[in-house]
Amino acid sequence: AGGAASLAGGVLAAGAGWAVAAPAFPPPGPLATGTVGVTLVAKQREARILPEPAGPSPVITYSDDFPGPVIRMKRGQRLRATLVNGLDEHTSIHWHGIRLPNAQDGVPWLTQKPVQPGESFTYDFVPPDSGSFFFHSHCDTVKLLGRGLAGLLIVEDTNGPVFDADLPLMVKDWQLEADGRFGTLTSDRGAARAGTFGNVATVNGRIDPVIEVPANGDVRLRLYNVDSTRVVDLRLDGAEAFILAVDGLPLAPRPLDGWVMGPAMRIDVVFRAPAEPGRDIRLVNAYAAEPRPLATLRTAGAPRPNGRFTPRPLPAHDIPQPDLKRAETHRFDFSSTAVAQSFAPAVLAGLPYADSLCLSEKTFWAIDQKSWPQDGHERLPPPLVTLTRGKSYVFELVNLTPHLHPIHIHGYAFLVLGSDKRDLPRHHADTVLLEPKERMRVAIKADNPGDWMFHCHIIEHQETGMMGYLRVA
Ligand code: C2O
Ligand code: CU
Repeated sequence: AGGAASLAGGVLAAGAGWAVAAPAFPPPGPLATGTVGVTLVAKQREARILPEPAGPSPVITYSDDFPGPVIRMKRGQRLRATLVNGLDEHTSIHWHGIRLPNAQDGVPWLTQKPVQPGESFTYDFVPPDSGSFFFHSHCDTVKLLGRGLAGLLIVEDTNGPVFDADLPLMVKDWQLEADGRFGTLTSDRGAARAGTFGNVATVNGRIDPVIEVPANGDVRLRLYNVDSTRVVDLRLDGAEAFILAVDGLPLAPRPLDGWVMGPAMRIDVVFRAPAEPGRDIRLVNAYAAEPRPLATLRTAGAPRPNGRFTPRPLPAHDIPQPDLKRAETHRFDFSSTAVAQSFAPAVLAGLPYADSLCLSEKTFWAIDQKSWPQDGHERLPPPLVTLTRGKSYVFELVNLTPHLHPIHIHGYAFLVLGSDKRDLPRHHADTVLLEPKERMRVAIKADNPGDWMFHCHIIEHQETGMMGYLRVA
């Protein structure tokens, strides 16, 4: 019940204007025990994305399951994941959204030595929160994530509502030629603006798939935007759906109605499937001018014997609450660099660890006027800011550009306090979408020491400068 109390305190009581009674978040269940062991072999594989006569596409994945492995474990269990690098470049795994020890965070040079071709590295940690998380590489990400190098990490609680189905749905566009080969994943034109979009929309690696759901069942969908560029507003056409969690973390159930998600953002939703078999519900992206259908959910089987549908909240989490009265405020400006700076290959080659730093040749974006990489510091640029462990901070995230930027902080779930443009409920998240010219405020209690990346998750923006890190010491 301690977790339930802290969630109610931070998310509901502190939010202005909540007239409704706080829903009863069930307490988290007892911690499970044991270790989940997985081996993730990063390499090129073939996958059929386009129909014949196109050929298969040379994707890059962590397992033979396309579009990627789904690791399911229970809260309290330990994950031991061995990355085997079968690529011809170095790599690492970043566990997006997990509040883990810094050494497990998977950022080459910042938190670990990059894993060279042929080498392996074992990550070992206990995810503290239940929820829908994912993992991906953290270097050469335009190419590697663009070609599929990601997987899902789902941490289940032993308490909370029971669903008749629990389906992860990963939304991703691929940039493919008509023959199935990859097209151009990045261009200066795209990188300096909204990004380079893919041309083949998929859910779980398939174009407009038909996915069966149990008739009259309560269906939990874990909706992931794993695209590198696309912003989505996912809706269900044909069923009333409720959001239960954002970035894996529970919030009071609210109708699914305009929750815009940038790359890396997730929501968990629940809906009651129609009782008759053979009925279709469409998953659509309403963000585009013309809503795009992405997948069909089709009822099947004997109707489940469910009574009246009421969305029940997921178990509370126990993320430490920032002390908002004493919090220090830091402002971060997200801007474009006035002039794209080019780093000559010679300059790059002269930097120690140049190729390990994931340096880009062009810089279009900056955080606080600083672009990654900076001006030739030895090894790494200094942190954007150093925070005192145990203190609370409010970050004012200011978007000075006319573009969208999903801003992500590693190793933390922050409390989203609000925006100057939109009404948002107070909730926890690991990534927030900054709309053009928007200013958002988020808060953390700096309890997790280390160097934590802080960047835009439109991967071309990240790789052309909109990246830095926070030090908690
Ligand atoms: Cu998914 Cu550094 O991020
Ligand atoms: Cu961005």
